[in-house]
Amino acid sequence: MAGKFPSDFRERLLERIEIAEIVGARVQLKKAGGLLKGLCPFHTEKTPSFVVTPSRQTYHCFGCGVHGNAIDFLIEHDRLTFREAVEELAQQAGLELPSEADAAPAGPDPRPLYPLLEQAAALFQQQLREHPQARRAVDYLRGRGLSGEVAARFGLGFAPPGWDFLLKQLGQHPDARTLLERAGLVIEREGRRYDRFRNRVMFPIRDRRGRVIGFGGRLLDDGEPKYLNSPENLVFHKGRELYGLFEAQQANRQPPRLLVVEGYMDVIALAQFGVSYAVATLGTATTPEHLTRLLRSAAPELVFCFDGDRAGRDAAWKALEIALPQATGQTPIRFLFLPEGEDPDSLIRQEGSGPFEQRMEQATLLSDFLFERLTSARNLGSDEGRASLDAAARPLLNKVPVGTFRDLLEQRLAKLTGVASNARQRQGPRPAFSRAQGRSQGLTQLNPMRRAIALLLDDPALAPHALAEPGDWREIDSPGVRLLAELLEVIGARPGISSAVLYEHWRERDQASIVERLSNSALLAHIPPEGRAEELAGAIRRLNRDGRSILRQRLLSKASTEGLTAEERTQWQRSLNPAAHAAPPQTKN
Ligand code: UTP
Ligand code: MN
Repeated sequence: MAGKFPSDFRERLLERIEIAEIVGARVQLKKAGGLLKGLCPFHTEKTPSFVVTPSRQTYHCFGCGVHGNAIDFLIEHDRLTFREAVEELAQQAGLELPSEADAAPAGPDPRPLYPLLEQAAALFQQQLREHPQARRAVDYLRGRGLSGEVAARFGLGFAPPGWDFLLKQLGQHPDARTLLERAGLVIEREGRRYDRFRNRVMFPIRDRRGRVIGFGGRLLDDGEPKYLNSPENLVFHKGRELYGLFEAQQANRQPPRLLVVEGYMDVIALAQFGVSYAVATLGTATTPEHLTRLLRSAAPELVFCFDGDRAGRDAAWKALEIALPQATGQTPIRFLFLPEGEDPDSLIRQEGSGPFEQRMEQATLLSDFLFERLTSARNLGSDEGRASLDAAARPLLNKVPVGTFRDLLEQRLAKLTGVASNARQRQGPRPAFSRAQGRSQGLTQLNPMRRAIALLLDDPALAPHALAEPGDWREIDSPGVRLLAELLEVIGARPGISSAVLYEHWRERDQASIVERLSNSALLAHIPPEGRAEELAGAIRRLNRDGRSILRQRLLSKASTEGLTAEERTQWQRSLNPAAHAAPPQTKN
């Protein structure tokens, strides 16, 4: 990503600002113990579940699961880019921005692409009105029942035939030609440049702030490919964007729901018939990022639309699996299956918006679809059938965030299997040390390595309790263990470091996504603060067992080849009887 700031600058910045001020200027917060609480700005709720924790300099919503530091908050809330968010904070903190030269290697600057794409969209739109050959495009759109008003709302345009319309209009200067290529509007092949989009109806794709980031272009006749899309570029990422989201938000301050469909034309036809809250994925399956974006749009409900055939049901199931980790029941997710051979465009044209809306209202809830599919090919009259249901359901339910919704799904499963399978006892072997009751279901379900990382990310001051245990776990060679080691190192080097700064340290690095997932205080919500040190020490002890067995194998194989040094012999002894050699207990606080 271009325009990155060096990470030590971002970390210094986060130490300088106060998250309570940043959030407090945008969300009404009330003190509650050492925390600040308010109504979550990212989803609709009546009782506050949005928490700002000054000691960690982070925010977290127990309702919809959003969390992060002040930079994330500005990106999500004010819809800023990463760079803008950092700039905004720096200005508030009175910190001077590091010069471009200090910035991390930046790659090409995406900013000039926005005005260029905007100009292209304006030119295409103008061609639809003025080009001598646009008649056919206009007739085509009319033939599909679109009014001029809707065409204008979606910025539809026309890329004229010929090879160099945009090149001529926008590519006079060599730098501009490079930009056109970077924007995916012009193709260079064997030293020749030409327009990507020719003789097509153009659909500009806008990001959530309304900036044009790419295009889809449709042929007027049959032919291949029917739609040509912009390639991914510096500002256009298919797995993240949803066609029509900006337009939907413009058209509705409070849409009753968001409807997710497949095609550009579906979105537009629905809008033409009064359903102005449809969005489309861009020729890709639904991604977790799509889902996050949809859930954060604050629509009260999401409806995913699929064909009623086999392929449609399979696609719906894939979307369900993507949705589970973000499904809290706060925003109901539904699946609408269309009659075979219909798409939303054809259907709403036939039956109008009333019946179509009714279909959406009656669409299958995620929980129902889940159990329908799980039970459909199984004989629940037999123990075998019920056991197989349990086995199939469990990994799916384990994806759902800990909370009421998951509890309800567990209960429903228990009713079907007839086994009052207390999920809490079935999370896998409980480590022997964990005696405390009422600990977090979510957390015990994490393996010890993840548990240790989650605890440290949440409260870096716990680090001494991890370091007080022997370090046999370092024998384990896994990315998680390397992350744990680095985490302890970073915390050790910067006493008093906050969660927010730690989080920043890992942004955009390989392990960022695991850090992101684990720095979710909901995982820890059920452990009382006084139990955390022991929880961490216990996780490390659990890791040490594995570490010691790896160590023993290593020493054994060395003993049989080269023999052991004196030090290694001590290690061997210790690995056999760690209790006798345990480091003296050490406490902090
Ligand atoms: P559809 O063929 O269902 O599109 O493909 P549609 O919008 O309903 O098209 P028409 O105009 O009514 O015939 C669904 C989506 O898949 C992508 C596009 O994003 C399209 O909207 N697609 C489809 C492509 O990218 N390329 C293609 O050639 C076809
Ligand atoms: Mn269609």
